[in-house]
Amino acid sequence: MINSDSAYAEQELLYNRFMEPALRSAINHLALPPGSIGLDAGCGPGGLLHLLDAASGGVGYTFGTDISSPLLVIAEREIQSHNIEDRVGLFCASLGQPLPLPDDCLDWVWSADVLTSEGAKRGFPEPAEVVKEMARVVKPGGQVALFLGNRLGAVFIPGHAHIENVLATAVNLNYRKQDHFHPAFHNENVLSWMRAAGLTQLRMSAHITEYQHPLHPDVIQYIQKYIFEEEYCPLPELKQYAHGIGLSESEWQTWLDISNPQSSNYILTQEDYYCVRFGTLATGRVLK
Ligand SMILES: C[S@@+](CC[C@H](N)C(=O)[O-])C[C@H]1O[C@@H](n2cnc3c(N)ncnc32)[C@H](O)[C@@H]1O
Repeated sequence: MINSDSAYAEQELLYNRFMEPALRSAINHLALPPGSIGLDAGCGPGGLLHLLDAASGGVGYTFGTDISSPLLVIAEREIQSHNIEDRVGLFCASLGQPLPLPDDCLDWVWSADVLTSEGAKRGFPEPAEVVKEMARVVKPGGQVALFLGNRLGAVFIPGHAHIENVLATAVNLNYRKQDHFHPAFHNENVLSWMRAAGLTQLRMSAHITEYQHPLHPDVIQYIQKYIFEEEYCPLPELKQYAHGIGLSESEWQTWLDISNPQSSNYILTQEDYYCVRFGTLATGRVLK
């Protein structure tokens, strides 16, 4: 395993812990039948397999698949750490290709933040085809569930709405310039992909993660490392975009101050701090 795989897995598992309230809510929303058999498509390092196992009553069977063998090695460790080896199994496959499973063999397929993650963080060129292949392996009446984390509307810098709005827009402009995402990236199209795949009873629901002071160290670590230092990072190009769309120099200095763990104004340890982030869950059923 190369270092970048373990660093990626560490980031993903930390993100899973941060988003756990929203993920649990979304998985509960599925009301998986006890004893059901399902697939976590694009399970990565396997941080959600124990939640899916528990949601099917701890008496079903959950498969996890991913294109990355190194991530599946880490997923195997996750499975062992939760003592669920007898109810969870892994296989390596690419979701862009036919799955190595017969038609109508599963009760459900769950997939979290995968359709937007092909290659270098790009979306699949034909997301509806990937959903169609998921639907093929689900029995009539069974569910396909696509969870997608969403940065729109997140609050990580409460009390500084203008700074946060401008930084979030600057990040998006920067991504766009770097051609970071395939045009199909837009999460908001997920229902049309499901409809094109022939699924019925399409539903969208939002699931929230919220935290308030005092924050768990994992929450501080996630926000500091991946939101403040990676997304809203003080790179010159981000600052330039932010200034171009209305962030003043004094607001930029405020941002540097409140995002600095050494500052007495560090926002993540203030008594009135809170944060909110949500994910969307799109579900559809295979026609009976
Ligand atoms: C953002 S991670 C999400 C992992 C996991 N679903 C979770 O929520 O923790 C995206 C995952 O999609 C996997 N992936 C990307 N392209 C894939 C493909 N063509 N087939 C299968 N998995 C793929 C990546 O290897 C990675 O593990």
